[in-house]
Amino acid sequence: MTELSAERLQKVIANAGVASRRHAEELIATGHVMVNGEVVTTMGVKVTPKDEIQVDGVPLNKEKKRYFLFYKPRGVITAVTDDKKRAVVTDYFADVREHVYPVGRLDYDTSGLLIMTNDGEFANMLMHPSFKVDKKYVAKVQGIPTRAQMMPLRDGLVVDHKKLAPARFNIMSSDKDKQTAIVSLTIHQGINHQVKKMFQTLGFPVMKLSRTEYGPLNLEGLVSGEHRPLRQAELTALRDMAAAASPEATAARRKKPVSREGWAQAKRKRETARKK
Ligand code: URA
Repeated sequence: MTELSAERLQKVIANAGVASRRHAEELIATGHVMVNGEVVTTMGVKVTPKDEIQVDGVPLNKEKKRYFLFYKPRGVITAVTDDKKRAVVTDYFADVREHVYPVGRLDYDTSGLLIMTNDGEFANMLMHPSFKVDKKYVAKVQGIPTRAQMMPLRDGLVVDHKKLAPARFNIMSSDKDKQTAIVSLTIHQGINHQVKKMFQTLGFPVMKLSRTEYGPLNLEGLVSGEHRPLRQAELTALRDMAAAASPEATAARRKKPVSREGWAQAKRKRETARKK
C-alpha cells in the first residue's frame, strides 16, 4: 500500500468495473474489500498495480461481466445498501455472485424496468447525457386529463425553470367514479423525479408510477422482483444506440449525412432486438 503513483482504492475498484464509485465506498466501509490479505474499511487508502485487491474474496478484474433486466418492485430503494436497513435492489440478486449495481435510478415508490450490471463502462455509456434512449412510463394520475391539457408535453414542458425535451403521451384509460386516469409518457431525459414533476406541472399528480420500457427492452415475461440476463441482441442494440449517439458519431454525421438506408437498417435492428 505504497503512496508512490498510487490511486484511491475506491477509484481502482470502480475503474475495474466492479461497482460505481459510491458502491465501491460502501463495499470498503462494510468490510468486503481486502488489500494484500488484510480487510480495509477506511477511506483514503491508496493502492498501486502491485497491490492485490479482492472484493468478497474475488481478485479484482476477475469478475465476469453480467447484465440484467430487473423488474424493480415498488417500495425498494435503488441502491446497493441502506443505513436504515430498508429493502434495496441488490437484495433481489442474492443468487448472483458478481457485484451488480443499478444503472440510473427509479424512485422508492416507482416500480419497473431497471438495468443492473457490474460493467462500469457499460453503465457510464448508458448514463451519458448524449445517450437519449426512449423510456416509457405508465402513470396512474389524479384527475382525468383531456388531450388538450396534455398537449404542452409535445412542445416541451418547463419544469424547475428548465425547458424539457418534447415528450409523447397516450391517455390509456380513465375511471370517472374515482376521477383517475392511466397515462403513458415517453421521455429520453433523466432528471430527478421527472415524470412526477411533469404530471404535477400539468395539474395531475401521480398516484402510481411504473417504467415499462427502456429503449428496446420491456418487462415481458417478468413479474415484480424478478430479473433475467440481457440477451446478446439487446446488449448489441444498446451499444449500437450509444455508439450512434456518441459525440464522435454526431460530429461525423454532421460532415456526412446518414443515408435513408442507414436509418432504415438501424430501425430494423432495434425492432429485431425488441422482438427477441
Ligand atoms: N420519474 C419519476 O418521477 N420517478 C422515477 O422513478 C422515474 C422517473
